[in-house]
Amino acid sequence: MFNKKALTLFSLLAVACGQQAGTQTAETHPPLTWESCTTAGGCTQQSSSVVLDANWRWVHVTTGYTNCYTGNTWNATVCPDGTTCAQNCALDGADYEGTYGISTSGNALTLNFVTNSAQKNVGSRVYLMATDDTAYQSFKLLNQEFAFDVDVSQLPCGLNGAVYFSQMDTDGGASKYPNNKAGAKFGTGYCDSQCPQDIKFINGQANVEGWAPSTDDPNAGTGDMGTCCNEMDVWEANSISAAVTPHPCSVQGQTACTAGTNCGGTNRYGSLCDPDGCDFNSYRMGDTTFYGPSMTVDTGSKFTVVTQFLTNDNTTTGTLSEIRRLYVQNGQVIQNSKVNIPGMDAYDSITEDFCDAQKAAFNDTTSFQNNGGLTNMGTAMGSGMVLVLSIWDDYAAQMLWLDSDYPTTADPTQPGVARGTCATDSGNPEQVESASASASVTYSNIKFGDIGSTYTSN
Ligand SMILES: *[C@@H]1O[C@H](CO)[C@@H](O)[C@H](O)[C@H]1NC(C)=O
Ligand SMILES: *[C@@H]1O[C@H](CO)[C@@H](O)[C@H](O)[C@H]1NC(C)=O
Ligand SMILES: *[C@@H]1O[C@H](CO)[C@@H](O)[C@H](O)[C@H]1NC(C)=O
Repeated sequence: MFNKKALTLFSLLAVACGQQAGTQTAETHPPLTWESCTTAGGCTQQSSSVVLDANWRWVHVTTGYTNCYTGNTWNATVCPDGTTCAQNCALDGADYEGTYGISTSGNALTLNFVTNSAQKNVGSRVYLMATDDTAYQSFKLLNQEFAFDVDVSQLPCGLNGAVYFSQMDTDGGASKYPNNKAGAKFGTGYCDSQCPQDIKFINGQANVEGWAPSTDDPNAGTGDMGTCCNEMDVWEANSISAAVTPHPCSVQGQTACTAGTNCGGTNRYGSLCDPDGCDFNSYRMGDTTFYGPSMTVDTGSKFTVVTQFLTNDNTTTGTLSEIRRLYVQNGQVIQNSKVNIPGMDAYDSITEDFCDAQKAAFNDTTSFQNNGGLTNMGTAMGSGMVLVLSIWDDYAAQMLWLDSDYPTTADPTQPGVARGTCATDSGNPEQVESASASASVTYSNIKFGDIGSTYTSN
């Protein structure tokens, strides 16, 4: 929620990015299996793979290996403007394990937090490819459920292992924007509900205009363009706190925004999307003993996270009416915690009523409702969304919106302020990167299909 992925830019090589396809390192997507399930037919294995987002990649001139972007500035000679830059620069292939700490084994994906090779890499973001390996897998979530196993035991305060759906183009934008020759194969086309402006290439252009280097992140900056789209945060979590959060937009499909107009930024609620979302974080919703080490959902060991997207008429063409969560650990199904907040009923799922009551009880801005709420979120789900898996730290808000008291100036006894037990001075990215360099997250056993088809209990 607050400032989530905005302005973060997790790191990367002290090198660059572009939109042509480079060939210095062969781009070989790490294989990953998942299962497609039906109530009648059971589960069928899908042989797929993951691709690293373009923003992490080295980008160099197409004619050689001069950087197009170094540290946090563009090379003005080859990048005098966005279009020329996109034509002059190529995204190169990734050494997934060696440079980025990304590895797969069967149905499991592990993302290491800090990886030191020739450069230091921090965090990563990958997308699930379709089985033909030419486009991203599209998930139509309505009246379906999504399950995965996760081990968050090695994710301390300030870190976020995230699993979410973004309404990206499945070809990475290549067919809409002819300057984008790299496409899904090189992880292009990212967008989310924060309308991030730290993305180096958007709509086939480099984000050169107005590019301002970050004051605290040596590898990041922001340009005048941002890239917005509907986002369904199934899972944003560490070993202390977890949240499930729909973030609708007033637009459908990946949509560029312009700084000072409709990207948000200093006018947080002036963007095309809902930056806060309607979040269900068990701790924030009043059950402080449900999720954490040795708690009801014990974050000391692996568990299964199941999320159901129910519609008003129980069909895949209905209107999204409810987002339900349950967990499975050691063979036992664990129902979601119930809301325990003065003025709210004991909700255990996300519905329009829950969101209205939560915003009122917490005196939060109704940007969720103002951006079409579950209706717009459901329209995006009906159109298909791309699966994103990541690990990140937070240069904007130290992840305190997830795992601590936030805003830090508010009275933590007021409803909605406390979100987890992490200290209000935790989550500083520099400290997290040095103290928790060996942190990692493993996602495995991804399943998708009919309601009730992806999990069993002993
Ligand atoms: C910028 O690109 C030009 C043309 O390729 C190159 O000669 C120059 O060295 C580059 N500058 C930097 C700082 O990399
Ligand atoms: C949808 O399914 C639920 C749970 O099985 C049921 O309670 C409800 O009546 C159904 N709704 C419709 C419109 O069929
Ligand atoms: C609710 O929020 C508004 C706008 O942020 C603020 O002006 C008002 O004082 C808040 N009310 C309470 C009771 O906290």
